[in-house]
Amino acid sequence: MKAINIRNKYLKFFENHGHKVIPSAPLIPENDPSVLFTTAGMQPLVPYLLGEKHPEGTRLTDYQKCVRTVDIDEVGDNRHLTYFEMLGNWSLGDYFKEESIKMSFEFLTKELGIPVEKLFVTVFKGDEDAPKDEESAKIWEKVGMPKDHIYYFGKDDNWWIAGEEGPCGPDTEMFYDTGKEACSENCDPSCGCGKYVEIWNNVFMEYYKSKDGTYSKLKQRNVDTGLGLERMAMLLQGKETPYDTEIFAPIMEELKNLAKSDDISSRRIVAEHLRCSIMIISDGGRPSNVDRGYILRRLIRRMTRHLNKLQIDLNELSNLIDLNIDVLKEMYPELEKNREEIKKVLIEEKDKFIKTLANGEREFEKVILRLKKENQTKIDGQIVFHLYDTYGFPPEVTSDLAKEQGFTIDMENFQKLYKEHQEKSRMGSEQKFKGGLADQSPETICYHTATHLLNAALKIVINKDVHQKGSNITPERMRFDFSCDHKLTDEEKKKVEDLVNEWIKQALPVTVQEMKKEDAIKSGAECMFIEKYPDIVTVYSIGNVSKELCGGPHVKNTSELGTFKIQKEEASSAGVRRIKAILIK
Ligand code: ALA
Repeated sequence: MKAINIRNKYLKFFENHGHKVIPSAPLIPENDPSVLFTTAGMQPLVPYLLGEKHPEGTRLTDYQKCVRTVDIDEVGDNRHLTYFEMLGNWSLGDYFKEESIKMSFEFLTKELGIPVEKLFVTVFKGDEDAPKDEESAKIWEKVGMPKDHIYYFGKDDNWWIAGEEGPCGPDTEMFYDTGKEACSENCDPSCGCGKYVEIWNNVFMEYYKSKDGTYSKLKQRNVDTGLGLERMAMLLQGKETPYDTEIFAPIMEELKNLAKSDDISSRRIVAEHLRCSIMIISDGGRPSNVDRGYILRRLIRRMTRHLNKLQIDLNELSNLIDLNIDVLKEMYPELEKNREEIKKVLIEEKDKFIKTLANGEREFEKVILRLKKENQTKIDGQIVFHLYDTYGFPPEVTSDLAKEQGFTIDMENFQKLYKEHQEKSRMGSEQKFKGGLADQSPETICYHTATHLLNAALKIVINKDVHQKGSNITPERMRFDFSCDHKLTDEEKKKVEDLVNEWIKQALPVTVQEMKKEDAIKSGAECMFIEKYPDIVTVYSIGNVSKELCGGPHVKNTSELGTFKIQKEEASSAGVRRIKAILIK
């Protein structure tokens, strides 16, 4: 079964079970402070899992575009992907374990036709924070899962939370037995040998984990599920890797035709990173030196390097992008609309990287000259790291060039420095994740309302074509990106600030309304990603100065905000400016 058919079957099945199909949120989270990319279907739904009312009701289903970058360096093996699609269904305080498990079992066995013998499940074994989940195990037995296919594991395997803080709970995971030989007597679904492949995760989200590590019960009991589409397609098609499915096969084939050297790992890296970059750019991501822009930059650089390694002419990139979009557009029709922009961004970035490589080479030659003068024959890891970190010059290229010059290189020290660097950036992303997702502190909510006022003020002071391009909120400050072709003058900044403060002083009420998406747009409500919203939307109005499609939450009255102060205005990317501002109480 093709991936798109699995997706359609899934959405139809849950629609038939009373769920509303909602659109995928963009990969780049809107208003979600500092999460780099959408990493799970539940992420855009956090406010609703915490108790906000969702305009489409209490049963939802969707396919969600996701990017997870923790395993970026593993891509090239037979299973890791940075971009993937997650199918999900949610109960927002509606059904719980029984109905959830019944539906999953029915979908897997009846709709997808997977024999029960191939299915294994795991449930939470219990600890001091939550009891053993015998209820789920009993339900599994009742629906027809053989008792010896049900395993109990601890938090490491059967507890799900996004990051460190937020809604969470025990989960039950479903596995597909590939029929491969067991790796040992103790081989079971928690084993990573590849015999058992996880296909679906149902989280029974009834807890909230606080910053201090303690758990409390949520207002409502939710179900959050996630099924990895590429993996399911691979299994149902009897393929060994996702690269053998129709999602990747045409591009893998083309790479093989074009390549002068045969390296399957490089072909996979190119195919995977190209797809991921296309999806990120299509959702508005642009390469830069920080955060998500840097991830995109790394993806494109790594892809370019492996094109080089495969000895593929880099001018082929344009055709490869076209082919990839042709393959993907049935699943993601928005790619057709964004085709030219995607090509432009990718090709420009590739060209920039070629220049970087040239600069790195020059720098390398200087180093070699110096070392030769000093009669040395070894290049220190520090130098390799410096070339990598400052010039983006890949260590394997340094290593090749060093060899040509009769030098050895200290890769061990490089690896050590690289690991330290990675650890720092990993901690950085986790930190961001933590700050982001579930933070609904009063401070954050105030900043959220302030972004709406700022958006409205910019339209008046600059012009009405100013649109929000992104935002990033923490309890301490806000950042707001908007389309604008010039640096704001001091006078413009002052006018914007004064206007926002004037509205705060006027103590304007913040009101929320549910309406049809078309009606909302017709009424002139502002909105960043129209495709993202379901047919029924919530619209937040602030007095009569601002009206925006938004999931909330917001303050009730602008008088709660304090004094608005712009701290900085700067370029964010081409045609996009960024304002950093604070609220002083
Ligand atoms: N949110 C859960 C996951 O990502 C379903 O596995």
